[in-house]
Amino acid sequence: MTTILEMHGITKTFPGVVALDDVSLKVAEGEIHALVGENGAGKSTLMKVLSGVYPHGSYEGSISFQGEECRFSGIADSERLGIIIIHQELALVPLLSIAENIFLGNEQASRGVIDWSATFARTRELLQRVGLKESPQTRVTDLGLGKQQLVEIAKALSKEVKLLILDEPTSSLNETDSEALLKLLLEFKARGIASILISHKLNEIAKVADTITVLRDGAAVSTLDGRSPAVSEAAIIRDMVGRSLTDRYPPREPVIGETVFEVSNWTVHHPLHSERKVVDDVSFHVRRGEVVGIAGLMGAGRTELAMSLFGRSYGVGISGEARIHGRKADLSTVSRAIAAGLCYATEDRKTYGLVLDETIRRNIPLAHLSGIADGIVVDEGRELAVARDYRDRIRIKSSSVGQEVVNLSGGNQQKVVLAKWLFAGPEVLILDEPTRGIDVGAKYEIYAIIAELAASGKAIVVISSEMPELLGITDRLYVMNEGRFAGEMATVEASQEKIMATIIRSGHRN
Ligand SMILES: Nc1ncnc2c1ncn2[C@@H]1O[C@H](COP(=O)(O)OP(=O)(O)OP(=O)(O)O)[C@@H](O)[C@H]1O
Ligand SMILES: [Mg+2]
Repeated sequence: MTTILEMHGITKTFPGVVALDDVSLKVAEGEIHALVGENGAGKSTLMKVLSGVYPHGSYEGSISFQGEECRFSGIADSERLGIIIIHQELALVPLLSIAENIFLGNEQASRGVIDWSATFARTRELLQRVGLKESPQTRVTDLGLGKQQLVEIAKALSKEVKLLILDEPTSSLNETDSEALLKLLLEFKARGIASILISHKLNEIAKVADTITVLRDGAAVSTLDGRSPAVSEAAIIRDMVGRSLTDRYPPREPVIGETVFEVSNWTVHHPLHSERKVVDDVSFHVRRGEVVGIAGLMGAGRTELAMSLFGRSYGVGISGEARIHGRKADLSTVSRAIAAGLCYATEDRKTYGLVLDETIRRNIPLAHLSGIADGIVVDEGRELAVARDYRDRIRIKSSSVGQEVVNLSGGNQQKVVLAKWLFAGPEVLILDEPTRGIDVGAKYEIYAIIAELAASGKAIVVISSEMPELLGITDRLYVMNEGRFAGEMATVEASQEKIMATIIRSGHRN
């Protein structure tokens, strides 16, 4: 097969970090090439070098595309050749419509006037190709993260694409949507479009990848044939982490006590369409030492439920009651919710989780400053000790805990979010997609911390679109669909099929 892309001897350093060390990568025409590795291994950096985000001259080594040497000075140069990258952190403008976002900078105009009917028609066509039924006029902010991801892909399709780079495209998608996306990649492949896929979901990689390159600590440690039966998930993991990983979930012996958190008849209306109920009469409880999961499809209302509970951060016309340790809890603002003993670790780390231009050590104690203070004075020594402790435990990869969060890899930012809420040590902790974008090894560590917290008597709620994860770490499950709780089951009696059946049985209201 003809080689379409060849990266040779790429080395890229940041102050104090060698992000890439002499990495070479070859992609053939129409190939699906997977790039895997632990958080901070250098995957996103390699793709930023390829797409011109890091311009020629800022790295060592060479890139050739379709036989021509490339010296990109910016992303526009790589796009012109048909290299389109979709970044790990989405880059849509939230207040603009889908159509505006897709054609931003590339407007469908005649004589300087935007042709809206052409724009909408073209947008509808592109949305259809990625399986979205939304109107082109829908504002991006009204879409969930998963759908925003699909809009990004539709946007890529609006350009002439020869090599599509997807940096963790499915991390925020549920299984059905992920499947659709992978099918899309296979369709592209059939039409000769090559793609580079970065993902921590190794089962997906095994499904679609022709070739797999494994990065570890900035170096390419192996290139595997994705079609070979000898290349199993276990083999990929071994190359990624440098050892075999026998168990995906830590063992637990739950000791479950009295009810800690009890929510009754919780109803939340949509902030813009106030007649619409996003959460509809939901009641649930979590006990001491218990890990409770909330399963559901994307858009089921799980994040909205959690956010509306945590300081009324979402929704209008909220009614219902929340109790912590039997007492009515005032959750009306974020600080009151934290004071009442409730914390919410969000899937959207950019908006709600972190102060990006601050360091790791300053971010971790943010929700629990009294934990590092002597009276009102911050004890720098304690702050440093806490930060180092969490960095080591969940392996936050960084040059030091004095590094700014904005420069961390995606997965490592997520780990800082978790560290922050874990350190706050609340009575009730709601974790929303806690391992999104996190590598397999670190996932295990996070599960272990969740288990430890439960063992110490905390009540924990986990929202996750990864059903195996819910089945692996929880004691009891609620199934949410279209704003309502459709079922409840002990995890020992649950299965993916049973969860799906519960969702289907509860049906669709619209
Ligand atoms: N702008 C930057 N300044 C300093 N260090 C950086 C910068 N960008 C990346 N790094 C460092 O380079 C290394 C590689 O980061 P990269 O984002 O490529 O990892 P990744 O493999 O994509 O990880 P993840 O799976 O978590 O997304 C990390 O140690 C990261 O902290
Ligand atoms: Mg990355």
